[in-house]
Amino acid sequence: MNEMDEDLEIKKEYIQLIVDGKRLDGRGFEELRPIKIEAGVLKRADGSCYLEMGRNKVVAAVYGPREVHPRHMQEPSKAVVRYRYNMAPFSVEERKRPGPDRRSVEISKVSREAYEPVIMKELFPRSGIDIFVEVLQADAGTRTACLNAATVALVDAGIPMRGLITSVAVAKVDGVLVLDPMKEEDNHGEADVPFAFVIRNGRIESIALVQMDGKMTVEEMKKATEMAKKGAMEIYALQREAIMKKYAAVEIEEE
Ligand code: CDP
Repeated sequence: MNEMDEDLEIKKEYIQLIVDGKRLDGRGFEELRPIKIEAGVLKRADGSCYLEMGRNKVVAAVYGPREVHPRHMQEPSKAVVRYRYNMAPFSVEERKRPGPDRRSVEISKVSREAYEPVIMKELFPRSGIDIFVEVLQADAGTRTACLNAATVALVDAGIPMRGLITSVAVAKVDGVLVLDPMKEEDNHGEADVPFAFVIRNGRIESIALVQMDGKMTVEEMKKATEMAKKGAMEIYALQREAIMKKYAAVEIEEE
């Protein structure tokens, strides 16, 4: 499918997504998919993380602070943050053409913008902090899974931050809101809203990313935000646990 065809592909097949008050995978409306997080999985990266969120499997690698190449991209008073989201060709049902496309460029941009205010860039003038996220297996919510993995990799790399980013989506399917949609819900639902929050001192401080695909009422959007906040706190606990596991004796920066 070329990009033009993708733009025109707006008609969705109807699939019943809520059967007897349950989601297709048996989850409750406010239930996350099973999450697995492991910090420090790559030897060469300064910080890394492997994360599964349902059937999503992603790896994050952080390099830096280090010298920026090309040099003209250096900033005299702060670090440059770069974020590259990439989907492996084998991560999706129909083989994805390797390399960046419009979607991955957009995801990389909004993800970087979520981290920009959180990373203490002013401490590292002229240097660069590079965040790479690779999707090995995709099942909707890869941008949220990658943000969650990147946070753990950044902490693993010892990058000073003002808070931690935690991300989860809420979808509207068959007229109800559901937390952390999987592929069927994302594809056939009425709306999909990924959120990312800044969590500081154990509390949600602000919203770092919201994207909306579809349609919701203002009331639904308010409820979706509350659902996402609850989900994010659960994920945050798992991110902390993964970090603690690696640095059993070390306290986390923010506390
Ligand atoms: O993954 P995320 O929900 O952040 O982004 P999306 O653009 O809403 O994509 C939803 C899902 O569609 C992905 O997670 C993949 O499972 C699937 N997808 C695909 O099969 N082929 C692509 N080229 C892009 C996405």
